[in-house]
Amino acid sequence: MNPKKTYILGIETSCDETAAAVVCNGKQICSSVVASQTKLHEKYGGVVPEIASRAHVENILPIVTEAISQAGIAPEQIDAVAIANQPGLSIALMVGVTAAKTLSFAWGKPLIAVNHIHAHLQSALLEAESIELPAVALIVSGGHTNLYDAESALDLRLLGKTIDDAAGEAFDKVATILGLPYPGGPNIEKIAKEGDPKAIRFPRSLMEKGNLDFSFSGLKTAVLYHCQGQDMKGENRVETMSRAEIADIAASFQAAVIEVLVKKTQRAAKKINAKSVLMGGGVACNGALRDAMEQMCKKEHLSLMIAPKKYCTDNAAMVASLAYYKYKAGQFADLALEPKATSD
Ligand code: KG4
Ligand code: ZN
Repeated sequence: MNPKKTYILGIETSCDETAAAVVCNGKQICSSVVASQTKLHEKYGGVVPEIASRAHVENILPIVTEAISQAGIAPEQIDAVAIANQPGLSIALMVGVTAAKTLSFAWGKPLIAVNHIHAHLQSALLEAESIELPAVALIVSGGHTNLYDAESALDLRLLGKTIDDAAGEAFDKVATILGLPYPGGPNIEKIAKEGDPKAIRFPRSLMEKGNLDFSFSGLKTAVLYHCQGQDMKGENRVETMSRAEIADIAASFQAAVIEVLVKKTQRAAKKINAKSVLMGGGVACNGALRDAMEQMCKKEHLSLMIAPKKYCTDNAAMVASLAYYKYKAGQFADLALEPKATSD
């Protein structure tokens, strides 16, 4: 007899991606559809919540319909509807939460609420056969930089987090300072390949012994002062810099972020006697970060699982995957579910 297949429809609208996916038994991705709004927000240099929310309203039903159609299943075969209801932009989350509640009610299927940051971690496990525990999990995205002690998909203990900007936010802001297009992360990575990471020694914050928190706002300010001068009078302005100078700044900034992320992960792994490291979130797309994390893990004899690049940024497969473990544990939400801007 074939084991029971549990199909979960996941929905994600926390920021500027409208996404839906169908995942079977928490691992097999039957479909994953993402409508990115990057083009809509590009000219503002960042995500505008009202524009994001309106685009989610327009996209949500076509995206859900497409995800079900690509999965090749009928709506009746879906066992539960999952939604990332926190954290994120309230008016963006609201669209997905309303859609998920409506579908759950209309289909008579259970509703499952998941934390978006915890779901990012699941992306690292999508293609993993098994994982040696305990694991240190690093989630590096545009909104969050969190380190966890992961005992299981549902059992995460926060070890450290950013006290100001998230790593991805720092990439985006430094890209703006350097006159690079939005979103900053991929564009900094691209130009950094032409630069010298040792050209400028930018600060590494909160490195004192035992500290597992992050701070990237001082680094961002250091880049700003480097470009505009301490008095912000604008000497050494970016417009007059050569591409090689900008590449050196980008490479040196990126090296500072990576050094901190890798050292803190190494420190956290030692603290909890970890056997594995997991990494996910948009910044985990960064090739130099992936390489540096791999080197550290090799040295420390840690097994490393990094989310495949296409599942590093926001998607709904990670939502449906995490929801499967909640489904098995009987952790359901009811129709009074609300979006929540901050994380529990
Ligand atoms: O996980 P994500 O899609 O959204 C949030 O939940 O925040 O992450 C988006 C962030 C952006 O800040 C973007 O600049 C950054 O991930 N990012 C990168 C790269 N690709 C995306 N940062 C550095 N290098 C990259 N290649
Ligand atoms: Zn995210």
